[in-house]
Amino acid sequence: MSTTQEPSSRTARPIQAREMGRSVVRRDGRAKVTGTATYAAEHAQDALHAVVVQSTIARGRATSVDAAPALAHPGVVEVLDHTSAPRLDRTEDRELAVLQDDRVGFRGQVVAVVLAESLEAAREGASLVAVSYDAEQHHVDFTPEAATHAPEKVNAGYPTDSDVGDLDAAMAEATVTVEQTYATPYHHNNPMEPHATIARWDEGADQPLVLHDSTQGVHPVARTLAPLFGLEQSQVQVLAPYVGGGFGSKGLPHCHEVVAALAAKAVPGRSVKLVLTRQQLFALAGYRTATISRMRLGADRDGRISAVGHEVLEQTSAIKEFAEQTATISRMMYAGEHRRTSHRLARLDVAVPSWMRAPGELPGAHALEVAMDELAVAAGVDPVALRELNDPPRSPEDDQPWNDRRLVDCLHRGADRFGWASRIDAPRSTLDGDWWVGTGMASATYPTYVMPGNQARVVALEGGRYRVEVGAVDIGTGAWTVLAQIAADALGCPVASVDVEIASTDLPPATVAGGSAGTSSWGGAVAAAVEQLREDHGEHPSPGAESTAGGEADPRQQEHAMHSFGAVFAEARVHRWTGEIRVPRMLGVYSVGRIVNPVLARSQFLGAMTMGLGAALFEESVRDPRYGHVVTQDLASYHVASHADVHDLQVEWLEESDTLATPMGSRGIGEIGIVGTSAAVANATFHATGVRVRSLPLTADRFL
Ligand code: MOS
Repeated sequence: MSTTQEPSSRTARPIQAREMGRSVVRRDGRAKVTGTATYAAEHAQDALHAVVVQSTIARGRATSVDAAPALAHPGVVEVLDHTSAPRLDRTEDRELAVLQDDRVGFRGQVVAVVLAESLEAAREGASLVAVSYDAEQHHVDFTPEAATHAPEKVNAGYPTDSDVGDLDAAMAEATVTVEQTYATPYHHNNPMEPHATIARWDEGADQPLVLHDSTQGVHPVARTLAPLFGLEQSQVQVLAPYVGGGFGSKGLPHCHEVVAALAAKAVPGRSVKLVLTRQQLFALAGYRTATISRMRLGADRDGRISAVGHEVLEQTSAIKEFAEQTATISRMMYAGEHRRTSHRLARLDVAVPSWMRAPGELPGAHALEVAMDELAVAAGVDPVALRELNDPPRSPEDDQPWNDRRLVDCLHRGADRFGWASRIDAPRSTLDGDWWVGTGMASATYPTYVMPGNQARVVALEGGRYRVEVGAVDIGTGAWTVLAQIAADALGCPVASVDVEIASTDLPPATVAGGSAGTSSWGGAVAAAVEQLREDHGEHPSPGAESTAGGEADPRQQEHAMHSFGAVFAEARVHRWTGEIRVPRMLGVYSVGRIVNPVLARSQFLGAMTMGLGAALFEESVRDPRYGHVVTQDLASYHVASHADVHDLQVEWLEESDTLATPMGSRGIGEIGIVGTSAAVANATFHATGVRVRSLPLTADRFL
């Protein structure tokens, strides 16, 4: 057996931008618009179709699963339940340990899967499976009293609580205070492309398990699934050349990938296709917990903040913990010597929450930025000026220097472009026909992550061409294109001379397209591989020469508070008789390092701001307390912002390059556009009407 040596890792030197910064046309665009791009479910036309059967109780046991009626249906090949499904090697992850025992932990959990020669037969078969339950008393109501559990850490590894100075004393001494509670509802990721997996099991093959999967990370899927099936990571192949959105819901493997693989193992040599319906994703693909934020802000009479308190109550699933890091934004956004933050969870018999675009920052920024608006009113200070006044020179709780904090530049540019100076301070001042008109703003931020564990390979080809290989995934963000731009600039060649290969576990390992860290992490590895190629083969490598290297974050990042910033401005019109809300214009100005591709970047910002608008006005999942599932489980009842809701939406960014963050000078852009946007809209509706609504969504009835 040969041993493969791990390639060396390095922090690549900054890259000179030539192709970066240009709006290079999306490389996968033609395939997508002509329908030749093959998404996960569009492979293996001869696959068996799998349809899952979901529990109708929230807690208890599935005492019997009667598969006979389903098996009698023409076309049905197999029905698997907890007694008949192949065994997993590991079952400690209770979300992924599906069909392994009779326990039911939430309504909608998979209790059986039907395999059939047609989708129709599989669906009919699934409806014929008769499951008997032994139901237990369930707890599915998220109440403040139920939120008592202190998690060890919150998402992304942040401490659960923080406590600096003496918050209570500072609040008692403050001249101006805000003490209010803000709430955000459950949100569900609804990517256009459903969650879909085609699995195939070939016993004895080098790679027994092969998946076409709609995922944000092929290597993470292989790494998670392999041990469940007693395989090495290298024995699982995962492919995801085109992915129609994920927003975090495809960032971590969920149970449907395990179900597909289990089913494939039960019918070796046949492909099994499992596509979650829109309804099913509401129980099986993660979601954003509802949150309650108890905010306390204390300031002197000029608005200088001395005290910041942010106490968060939210929920998780009793079968698997996910703690949204809602209060972390309040640890770093504004100055103030006395601070306290905390997170407490209600552990309920409900589906497992997970990542949804800007987990933590969206609900956290909503609470903090609406509270800041209330503080501005209470102190009689302009909201933009209040934020500028409290811009901290160093990161408040850890006292680190910022990498590149330009919030004030974003505020100034945004205020200028939006025409903030002509705003009348007093709320409920402008009536245009039957519409109250107002404007509001909020700050935005998102941490800068560069993930360890990324490698890239660069191969010299004939005619001065190169091929770049990295296991990245393009979830619609433009990775196919921007990685070519980054490689071209690292190599000093035109972008047209670079072929890119991504989206397969056969390629060098890559981390998830998540945490707004895809391009930063993969791009750093590409730059490192190019440096390695130069060292190994000189400036003019012969065709066939290749090098592989790992990328590492600049070690100086450890001593800096690494963040991006932005400022969002919104105008809202609220109908005086019906409460109907319109948002005729929004502007976001962002400081995110170098923009690698303006057209693609603009799309991400517009999409995120639109999602923030949806959070402000529409998005809300409603749980039925009797049964514990979400009743709003389609796009007719779970409303997202549509074209008709979006009017004049503008995005700008500062011209800059942050080479402490990445060799490209770029930072992440995928999530910051959703942060603060709902608060800006909420603040605009207050300014329009004088009515302060402290929970989302901002529905019409709240203004009457
Ligand atoms: Mo994003 S929620 O980190 O995919």
